[in-house]
Parts: sequence; structure tokens; C-alpha cells
Amino acid sequence: MEDRLDAVPARVPAPPEAPPPVRLADGLAYGGDYNPEQWPREVWDEDVALMREAGVNLVTLGVFAWGTVETADGVRDWSWMDDAIELLHGSGIGVDLATPTAAPPQWLLTAHPEIAPVLADGYREPAGGRNAWCPASPVYRRFALRHVEALAERYGRHPAVRLWHVGNELGGGNARCHCERSAEAFREWLERRHGSLDAVNAAWGTAQWGHRYDRWEEVMPPRGRHGAPNPGLFLDYERYSSDALLAHYLAEKEVLGRHSDAPVTTNLMVGAGAQVVDYASWAPHTAVAANDHYTSVDDPLREQDLAFSGDRMRGMSGDRRPWLLMESSTGGPSWQQRNRAKDPGEIVRHSLGHVARGSDGAMFFQWRASTAGAEQFHSAMLPHSGTRSRVWREVVELGRHLHALAEVRGTTVEQARAAIVADDVAGWALQHGLKPHRGLRYGRELREWHRALWERRILCDVVPSTADLDEYDLVIVPTMLVVDEAAAERLRAVPERGGTLLVTYLSGVCDVNGQVITGGFPGAFRDVLGAWTDEFYPLQQGERVRIDGDVLGGPVAVEDWTERVHLEGAEATVRYESSSLGGGPAVTRRAVGDGAAWYVSAPLPSDAVDGLVRRLAEETGLEPTAETDPGIEAVRRVGDDRSYLFLLNHAGTDRKAEAEGHDLLTGERVGPTVTVPAGGVRVLRE
Ligand code: GLA
Repeated sequence: MEDRLDAVPARVPAPPEAPPPVRLADGLAYGGDYNPEQWPREVWDEDVALMREAGVNLVTLGVFAWGTVETADGVRDWSWMDDAIELLHGSGIGVDLATPTAAPPQWLLTAHPEIAPVLADGYREPAGGRNAWCPASPVYRRFALRHVEALAERYGRHPAVRLWHVGNELGGGNARCHCERSAEAFREWLERRHGSLDAVNAAWGTAQWGHRYDRWEEVMPPRGRHGAPNPGLFLDYERYSSDALLAHYLAEKEVLGRHSDAPVTTNLMVGAGAQVVDYASWAPHTAVAANDHYTSVDDPLREQDLAFSGDRMRGMSGDRRPWLLMESSTGGPSWQQRNRAKDPGEIVRHSLGHVARGSDGAMFFQWRASTAGAEQFHSAMLPHSGTRSRVWREVVELGRHLHALAEVRGTTVEQARAAIVADDVAGWALQHGLKPHRGLRYGRELREWHRALWERRILCDVVPSTADLDEYDLVIVPTMLVVDEAAAERLRAVPERGGTLLVTYLSGVCDVNGQVITGGFPGAFRDVLGAWTDEFYPLQQGERVRIDGDVLGGPVAVEDWTERVHLEGAEATVRYESSSLGGGPAVTRRAVGDGAAWYVSAPLPSDAVDGLVRRLAEETGLEPTAETDPGIEAVRRVGDDRSYLFLLNHAGTDRKAEAEGHDLLTGERVGPTVTVPAGGVRVLRE
């Protein structure tokens, strides 16, 4: 039989209508990856007893269990999985059943080594890792769907199955394959997207370096370690790669849907910066968007990183629908350099931080710590030391809290009035190829503007460039190098309707194909900004340029990037003071009726971002979610006739907030001034 994949569509297929709300458990979901196949049968009884003690109500089963079920080509032993599902079901624990396609079995990798992905330098990843498969491989697809079908036939109608979990972190390890089959699939995708090879040549500007293509066979994925790919080729390959993986997800989802009514999702890795694939186009294809989030131990603001990721999940979930924290850790992961444990209180505070921002549960990797295998030192809900551990005590405490918060399930985070636009294509573009400054990181600006709002307890959604922006009074666009015309139009409309738009350096400089928009930077926004740049002045390592203006609250020095800006209707609110730009505008503001359009031509240090955000908040009337001492994070979820105020104290001392209500975690009535204990959390039904 000749294997053949359907071509990857060049436009992401339209998502289904917003799916109905998903009910994974009676209250909030609580649990983690459960891998009973790693343990003798007698351990399972203890597992389930301890799960009940901790209040676990949902576990992800079978994520890496392809090889332990399909033990040889077409030979399947379901016995352990049958037992595990019955045991869990009998104990009232729901199952998030995974299709185990992230880890193909050894027999398949041995029989078909060609399914492994090929890196840009031609090296084929050997078996032994995970996601070691090429998204364009028809052979892999055939074996994967065959097993998914068998799994769905067997358990698709089982009452324990509350959710399907497709693969695992799709793209983690195999997001870009450069093999021959991928090259063919890429060409087919290009033909659908652009229509003809002439159109590809025009979109990519292949006249440069005489790279014009005459035949499709000449088009290759961006290969090689040296040199710089054409930006148009690079961006289209990134887009194709995202679409190819999404096509695989959709193929599995289609098989599951033929045998089961249970909702389908896959775990994304949503964070700050350019993501491995364009998750914003994926999320609408999940019944509930699911995220894996791990704090970085060396990130001094890890709570803000966590908040950013929650705000981005909500921003891509559509209608602020609840999403699900599918994985996090109770302590050190094992893939960072120095895998520090969590501080006391962090398991609860971090988990409830996700719930505050819209997650309808808190799940972990993994239930019981493994003794063997690559992840033997990864933390777990039940650590190696067992129940006599601090982690276990906090896991039980968290279970109690989630139970007390059951009524929060299904409510949504209140509508934010501020938004930050995060766009993966723009992030990929900024960080690759021969750019005026090659050290700029997309996540830096995203995090920085979010931090300033977060510290002021001003809620903001982190939205994709495709989002409808009508609800927002303030829209911030950090370093969005590449912008498509439809998104640019939505952004330009913000000040026209009385809102405030803030655009930072290197935004709107290139069109959707990565081609520079001529006539003065930033081509997509210069009219609305009333300011334009004719030259970039990237700074050398250690070089600093002073800027000053009332809105900053004092002079500051900028690093990395400056620009020669000209006014054309805007006023300069901040000016460069040193360097050859001395006296030139650094930050500009154009009044547009009741609205305003700001341009920030340099990466501002935190103090200056704080000053500017203070001014923007005044100008747009943005209020904090609650008046509190510094160090407290405040977020509100709302239901039909009730609201819940989450107060998380990240400081090492007790802090106060002006708030009132019934604390669901302690059962007491509190307010109008509430003390939130050091490192603690309060959730008030207001
Ligand atoms: C990812 C994976 C898990 C596990 C964890 C470890 O999130 O999905 O299987 O490897 O990392 O942190």
C-alpha cells in the first residue's frame, strides 16, 4: 500500500463554532499524569487511595503508553489499561485519556527509521527521545491513526473518559522537519497559499542573490547551519510547520470523534515570547484549551511569567472561556540547569494563580515520582519520600482548597480593558535572519509591558493579532516586526474610536511576507502614529543613551536600540539626550480625537515603563482590580450573579487589601480591609 497524506491546507481550517462548556469534574479538575504502567499492580491500590486522600478527580492516562499496549505491529495488550481505567472509575476518578502518539514504539522506529525528523543540517534524530516523528510522514500517520482508532474503539464510550488528550506537547522536539517528504509537503502548501511559483518568487523577493525558482523541485526548506534564509521562505516554513502539526492533531481528533463524544484537547506550551507553533490558530480547535506551564527557577519574577501565560491562554481561548492547566510541577522539573524545589506555599499559590486567571483546574506532571527513566528526578505530587514530605502535605492542602473553590468552575475572568498583542509570526521574524540587531528577544518586551500592568493590578488580556480589539481602551503592540494588513487595520482603528494605542520599536516594519514596507518606518503605523523613523541606531554592548521626558518620571538610560524619529503630527513626550540622536524624539504621542497613538522607539528600562504605564492608566481611566499593598496580585472571576476576588500575596510578609467578602478557603467573612498572609492566598466570594 502506498502511504499518502492529505496535503496540509494552506489556510488553517475554520474552527468549529465555540464548543459547549466542558465539565471535566464536579468542581475544579485536580490531578496529573498517571503512569501506572511504570509500577507493579500492588502500588496502584495505594495510588488510588492516596489520590482520594488528596482530592484528585482527574488523571491523564497513557500519555507515553503506545509501546506498552501495541507491543508489536498490530499486536495489542490492553489488559493493564483495562484494569487501570476500571480501578480509577470505581474510585470516582475521571480519566483524561491520552493518545500515546508522542512516543512511537521501538519496533516502529526500527522498522521505519524514515519517520524520524531531520534537522536543518541534515542530521536525522535517532530514536530514544520523544516526538521523534516527522509531521509529514505518511507512514507515521498511518500507524498513529491506526492505534488511535483502536484506543477510541475500546474506550470511546467508557463513562470514566472525561477528556481526550492528543499526543503530548505537539512540536516539542519535532516542530520543524527538513526531510524530503517535508520538502514535498511544504511545496504543496506553498502552492495552495500563493497559487503559483511566480507568486512565491514575488512574495519572497527572490531576485535578491538571483534565487528565483523556475521549478517547484528547486524550493527547499531552509536548510544548513550557515547563511541566512530568505525571510519570506523562513516565515512560510514556520507557518507550514505549525499547520502540518495542526493537521496531525486534527486527523487524530477526527478519528476520536467517530468513536466518542468526549471533548478533545492537546496540551500547549504557552508562555512569553515566540512559541514553538502558532498556538493562537490551534486553540479554537480544542474543546478546552490546555496549557503546560513550568516556572523557571532563575526567573525572579516567575509569578509574573505565570500570570502572563494565564493571560495569554485566556486571550486565545475565545470569549475568555475557561482553560485548563494541564501540567505544572510541585517542585523542580528535571530539564532546567539547577532544578530548585518550590518554596513552601508556592505549590498552592502558583496553582491558584492559574485558577485566578481562568484555569478550571490544576494538573501536574506527574502523580507519582518515577524511580527510573530520563525523568527520574522530576518532582511529582507523590514524591520519592512519599507522604511524609512537605510536598505531599501541600498537595493535600491544595486538593482541599480546590474542593472549596468548586463553585468557581465555569466562571470567567472579568473583561479586561487593556490588551497586549502577542504574535508568534512576528516573534519568529524578530529573532531570525540578518536583522539590524540580532540579540533582540520577542519575549522581553511582551513581559516588560505586562509586568508594569501586573504590578499595578491592572488586568490585561494577551491576545493574538487576529483578535477583535473593540473591548479594549488600551492596546499595546510590542516589537511586532511583521504585521498583516487586516491586523494593522484593526490596530489603527483603536485611536480612531477613542482608545489608546501604544506601538513599540520594530513593529509594523514588514508585511506578511517579511518584506519591508517603504516610505519610513514603521510603514504599517506611521500615519496613525504621526511619527516616522528614517534610521535605526542599534547600540553596541554596554552602550547607553540617555532619554528624558515628564512622562517617564526622570531621565533613564536605554540600551540595545534607538532610532532617528521625525514628527509628523505627533508631539515628542520623551527625547534622546545623548548620542548623535540628541534632541530627537524617543517617545511620541499623537492625539486622535478622544484617543491617542503612542510610539516608543527604544526598549525602555523598567522604571520608565512604569512611568509610562502610570500615565496611560490615567489617560484611559484604567483601574486596578483591587486597592492593595504592593506584592499582592488581584484577579477577579465572574459568574452570572456572583464574583470571586483572588488575592495572592507573593511577598515574604503579611500584606493588606481593600476587599470584602466570604473567604472560600477559610470560611470566614472578611473586610473591608483584608490581611493576606505572607505567601498566602485568599479567595473572596464578594
Ligand atoms: C513536559 C512533558 C511531560 C514532562 C514534563 C517535565 O511538560 O509534557 O511529559 O516531560 O515536561 O517537566
